[in-house]
Amino acid sequence: MLFPGAVKTKLPNTGTTIFTIMSALAKEHGAINLSQGFPDFNVDPKLISLVHENMLAGHNQYAPMPGIPALRDVLAQKLESCYGTKIDSEKEITITAGGTQALYTAIAATIREGDEVIVFEPAYDSYVPAIRLHGGIPVQLQLAAPDFQIDWSQVKKAVTAKTRMIIINTPHNPTGMVMTGKDMQQLEKIVHNRDIFILSDEVYEHVIFDGLSHHSVLSYPKLAERSFVVFSFGKTVHATGWKTGYCVAPENLMAEFRRIHQYMVFAVNTPLQYALASYLAEPSTYQNIPAFYQRKRDLICQLLSKSKFDILPCFGSYFLLLDYSNISDEKDTVFAERITREHGVATIPVSVFCKNPPKDMRLIRVCFAKEDQTLAAAAEKLVAINN
Ligand SMILES: Cc1ncc(COP(=O)(O)O)c(C=O)c1O
Repeated sequence: MLFPGAVKTKLPNTGTTIFTIMSALAKEHGAINLSQGFPDFNVDPKLISLVHENMLAGHNQYAPMPGIPALRDVLAQKLESCYGTKIDSEKEITITAGGTQALYTAIAATIREGDEVIVFEPAYDSYVPAIRLHGGIPVQLQLAAPDFQIDWSQVKKAVTAKTRMIIINTPHNPTGMVMTGKDMQQLEKIVHNRDIFILSDEVYEHVIFDGLSHHSVLSYPKLAERSFVVFSFGKTVHATGWKTGYCVAPENLMAEFRRIHQYMVFAVNTPLQYALASYLAEPSTYQNIPAFYQRKRDLICQLLSKSKFDILPCFGSYFLLLDYSNISDEKDTVFAERITREHGVATIPVSVFCKNPPKDMRLIRVCFAKEDQTLAAAAEKLVAINN
């Protein structure tokens, strides 16, 4: 008998996400919040005006289930110009309530009881709970500092007859690693002739530095034919709170995706879709992003060069890892909480992104999608930390 009484949880080992915990702690202690990944600067006023205009124009009722055609058409053009691939906007793109919903729906569409899913850790924290909720078994492979490159021989060994999906994320949160063409070729070899889907989390596609190009699985036909590819407008237009994104997949995979999407959210915010369709038709809106964030990465690195932290390389995403071994040998969760309370800067301990973090891992993640003044004020506090 369950009622009246407690709900029997489906996620016994899952608590409140670290982002909620650290943001609440930052608020409580008046700390500068470099923990959760969101910009503290505003959205382009042009885009805000477009949303307003579309609301006034009466675009306020349900959108079509897969998204408005105008937005899907603009995205198909954008994907072709960025990744050289032709996407059928009618059958292969679905607008979602953020990247997270797209990830969840792709997992719900494919993963059954006992299916194994390979996940590279540290990993964005929504993958594993979504796998578990569908009876899947996460197979977590640890990436190693300082470069966090994928060890493909380890992946090869981890693949079994039960492997149903491999989740990749490039540019990578939290490590700033980006996958190369060679990585994509290795992945092609591993999935060849196997019933393995790829879930490719590419929400930071435009946040990439040092002249590197983003390698989308969409540019690799042998990968694209088995992939769900996830993007987020939150990252591209600096509006994480809008929770809008999209998924791209071949027609047969997308049909399954939509079967679930229609009962999960049905359709996504209409005026935002109209506004994004007009805004993203102008390529400079996303072509300027690498330079914009590279300047911020360089600024925070320069400001922290006088600190006792070791700064790990960051080639993409808007996160930077700091090694605090020179400062303390505390556990990262303890260290991150302490510097929030005592030094007024909230960060994320990296071990929370891992099932089996290496014992000697002393890393915190900072988000540099912040105003220059915020970065300067936070860096001053971080530089002052001696123990
Ligand atoms: C790697 C990664 N994937 C997916 C998401 C989710 O994107 P959204 O906010 O659009 O749900 C995030 C957000 O932080 C992320 O860092």
